[in-house]
Amino acid sequence: MPDVARKILWPALGAGAMLAALSTAPARADEPSAELLARGKYVATAGDCIACHTRPGGQPFAGGLSITTPMGDIISTNITPDPDHGIGKYTLQDFEKSVRHGVRRDGSRLYPAMPYVSYSGMTDDDVTALYTWFMHDVKPVAETPPATSLNFPANLRITMAIWNLVAGESEPETGDAATFDKLRRGKYLAHALEHCGTCHTPRNVMLSEKTDSYLAGASLLGWYAPDITSSKTTGIGDWSEDDLVAYLRTGHVDGLSQAAGPMGEVIEHSSSHLTDEDLHALAAYILQVPAKEDDGEHPARARAGQALDTPDIRSGELTRIDNLNPMDGKGVYDANCASCHGDNGAGTGDHYVPSLFHNAVVGSGHPDNLIMTVLEGVNRTANGVHAYMPGFDGKSDVQRLSNAEIAAVVNYVTATFGNGDHGVTAEQVGAQRVQTPKTP
Ligand code: HEC
Ligand code: HEC
Ligand code: HEC
Repeated sequence: MPDVARKILWPALGAGAMLAALSTAPARADEPSAELLARGKYVATAGDCIACHTRPGGQPFAGGLSITTPMGDIISTNITPDPDHGIGKYTLQDFEKSVRHGVRRDGSRLYPAMPYVSYSGMTDDDVTALYTWFMHDVKPVAETPPATSLNFPANLRITMAIWNLVAGESEPETGDAATFDKLRRGKYLAHALEHCGTCHTPRNVMLSEKTDSYLAGASLLGWYAPDITSSKTTGIGDWSEDDLVAYLRTGHVDGLSQAAGPMGEVIEHSSSHLTDEDLHALAAYILQVPAKEDDGEHPARARAGQALDTPDIRSGELTRIDNLNPMDGKGVYDANCASCHGDNGAGTGDHYVPSLFHNAVVGSGHPDNLIMTVLEGVNRTANGVHAYMPGFDGKSDVQRLSNAEIAAVVNYVTATFGNGDHGVTAEQVGAQRVQTPKTP
């Protein structure tokens, strides 16, 4: 560890070979170059630091987001350069130790909710650029988020040292990450920066990612991050590189999939800002990850279902909205979903409102994301397009649906447009409802 720290000498920044290589304009000894700052900002975006280190409605990077984990709720800390409340007193070495090895400036261990196991693969140059950008361009915020308090034994930060041994950090990549060839760059983005595995890889009993099931699908915060290995049945093996690039840039691919919840946030804050070249590198790498079948999935979720044959409106039966049995899934659908997704589930002609058949969320054997979409809706801005569907939870502006109504509509939608009725119960909806992120 000290070895790595010694390799990156902070004073070298002013005049060192790395800076000389990066900057075209001569920089003052104490003033980092614009290139270095731009690179630091890009690394912070690709690493999506803002997602966890900002609470809803809070100042960027000031922390305070409560992250639900099986260990308990872990609250992110303030990483703005404020000397008393944030990381203003961190040297580059202190910063490197927390980002790559999960060790705080005071020597205590960070909880693995901070994805340092992924970041351990970051190159020295990228860590330096990241540190420089945080210290130079992030606005200091003088507020300390509430402390995390976990139950024994997880409250003993020392146990995280054991966790570290099990989780296995990777060796940092070496060299200039900007010059890596396509697949190496893609691997670097997927593992060391974008940490796709943090959500998509199942964890073992010690909560570390199962390396032999990389990207095979896992639950988080009420959502299910699906199998995205190259499996043609339960993964995304039949997506093209362009499909995946479009998904990561916009969150919407007609007739395949849309991104809501945590994935919508990854796209909004992180992947939609990657360069075209990096998106292609990332997609090419992901699409060659060895196939791993997800036992819980039916085959090819994005291919399931078809439009509902609806009787002609003049001859067919009409449902009276005021006469609905609230527990009837079709009734809930007609009253709350059909106005946008259509009676037959086909969505709108311009695909702004997606079809519910050939839709990965509806066709999935894990109804989790359909439940979460109905509860929270979709609210994602990427590439200048705002995708919005209202949520139907207790905060809804349109209609608050009960757990039983949501269970009924979910079963109706999967039975009609997807892979069959999964027998979702009101209790299951209730359990997912309480997992939505909260601010302490
Ligand atoms: C998935 C959520 C998540 C992401 C993404 C994330 N962090 Fe963290 N980070 C945390 C949490 C939670 C803590 C506090 C852990 C604890 O209290 O043990 C933390 C702690 C830290 C600390 C220690 C600060 C201190 O002294 O308390 C630093 C430094 C840090 N993160 C930097 C970063 C940087 C830089 C990035 C982006 C490259 C990043 N984090 C991305 C969740 C995250
Ligand atoms: C914060 C957690 C999180 C991270 C990090 C994350 N994902 Fe996701 N991902 C999800 C969730 C949850 C879904 C389901 C979203 C939905 O149903 O709307 C998803 C869905 C997807 C899908 C759609 C699959 C399908 O069949 O519909 C793809 C592709 C994908 N993610 C790729 C990636 C890649 C590549 C990365 C890394 C760049 C990544 N994800 C990082 C949580 C995450
Ligand atoms: C006001 C219009 C509107 C209403 C009402 C509406 N939706 Fe949506 N729905 C949308 C839009 C827009 C999207 C997002 C498209 C995107 O992500 O690009 C969407 C997305 C979805 C998705 C895909 C989500 C994902 O993560 O891939 C599902 C499933 C869905 N809606 C089901 C429903 C159900 C069930 C109801 C009724 C309870 C409903 N919708 C009500 C407009 C609507």
